[in-house]
Amino acid sequence: MILVLDFGSQYNQLITRRIRELGVYSELHPHTITAEEIKKINPTGIILSGGPNSVYDDTAFSCDERIFELGLPIMGICYGMQLMTKHFGGRVERAKNREYGKATLKIQHSSSIFTGLPEEQIVWMSHGDLVMETPEGFSVDGINASCPIAAMSDESRKLYAVQFHPEVRHSAYGTEILKNFVFNVCECTGDWSMENFVEVEIEKIRQEVGDRKVLCALSGGVDSSVVAVLIHQAIGDQLTCIFVDHGLLRKGEAESVMKTFSEGFNMNVILVDAKERFFSKLEGVSDPEKKRKIIGNEFIYVFDDEATKLEGIDFLAQGTLYTDIIESGTATAQTIKSHHNVGGLPEDMQFTLIEPLNTLFKDEVRALGTELGIPDEIVWRQPFPGPGLGIRVLGAISEEKLEIVRESDYILRDEVKKAGLEREIWQYFTVLPDIRSVGVMGDARTYDYTIGIRAVTSIDGMTSDWARIPWEVLEIISTRIVNEVDHVNRVVYDITSKPPATIEWE
Ligand code: XMP
Repeated sequence: MILVLDFGSQYNQLITRRIRELGVYSELHPHTITAEEIKKINPTGIILSGGPNSVYDDTAFSCDERIFELGLPIMGICYGMQLMTKHFGGRVERAKNREYGKATLKIQHSSSIFTGLPEEQIVWMSHGDLVMETPEGFSVDGINASCPIAAMSDESRKLYAVQFHPEVRHSAYGTEILKNFVFNVCECTGDWSMENFVEVEIEKIRQEVGDRKVLCALSGGVDSSVVAVLIHQAIGDQLTCIFVDHGLLRKGEAESVMKTFSEGFNMNVILVDAKERFFSKLEGVSDPEKKRKIIGNEFIYVFDDEATKLEGIDFLAQGTLYTDIIESGTATAQTIKSHHNVGGLPEDMQFTLIEPLNTLFKDEVRALGTELGIPDEIVWRQPFPGPGLGIRVLGAISEEKLEIVRESDYILRDEVKKAGLEREIWQYFTVLPDIRSVGVMGDARTYDYTIGIRAVTSIDGMTSDWARIPWEVLEIISTRIVNEVDHVNRVVYDITSKPPATIEWE
């Protein structure tokens, strides 16, 4: 196992991800982890990640210095390299010009991490500080136009560092560099797979839960479905699933979830009709963050109530993904928006959380779902956010507006399916902005709502592009929405990528 220490770059999980792709298990941990905790985890190597600080800042993130004395191979990336330099007595300085983007690395000395790689290679830089002097015992392994020391190592102590980012695809041999570190230096075997993940997680869940009971927040989306099935495989009927109908679901959703899980998977699923509760809390609330927090809190209160009725429930399982955590802000990364299952947790919550997917990206969860034997129509279901249609009716919600989104979304889904585009488009839905415009229908003036169509391609939801749905398909969708959904007289298509927009409109 390779342990990655998180110093705050948004893309840190990519390092663990790349390593898992190599068949070696890897986890990201906060930079505050102690040497003792690391000993317990017993990794074969450590990677110190990048981050936004300067090592000499008063508030700079550091790590337990004893980590360097554990005798484990360590690789520092960007900020990690600078931290290693500072620790071992080298010199880091602020660069005259920050360096972002493509650079040519020239290898001066081929340490184990550069074995078999060309002497010149394109790498991706993103830094404001520079290592100007290596610590004693280190050799300068690589340079580039603006870095006198772009890579360094002390092979005798198995310490390696690079100023650039091998984890990003733009670094031409980045994966090979990580591969060399993981296999040549750390001597990992590369036999990890999703199958191992399932075994390890099932064992972890059994250990943690013992003979106690778990409640699972089932939404019918891929994440919570995978969590529920994983936990069900671990502890069987000690798991009870709760499916909350908060009145913000898509058309036909409640019925289909109940059918799939209680009939198909033979799991204990309780359907809770909580429409009234959510509506009364959301009445008149138009601020997106407030709406998200209210929905998140109410979810937990509903669970709390149900758990009290059930008695003896200690754990709450959730399908939180790594992307939910990183976007809700961690100790090191900035908040983009509060995903309901993270930012919305109330302080007086009475459960211990179980979140077995919180180190995974969406596509990894899909692979896990397949490994668990979950049928394709669930594994490949498009993501649906916990706050549901509540964040697709922009501003304050009402029954009438929800109905408009529900019906238009149903038409969109139907036409995307008919056009065979379900797998190609990562997520597609309609939104109701709070605007009305003038139209003409049957010779009469209308003053009605506009529906926005959002359809994106993505790999993990962190970034996305708008889907190039054929015009003929868009035409059918638009015509059907205006004809079949009351109070809509205009349809627009969102052609913004993420960034700068986000996928959802709120
Ligand atoms: P954004 O809008 O942040 O969405 O670009 C990225 C992905 O996350 C989904 N999403 C959520 N999922 N709870 C969830 O479970 C939430 O609060 C939430 N907000 C957004 C969104 O649908 C997209 O797939």
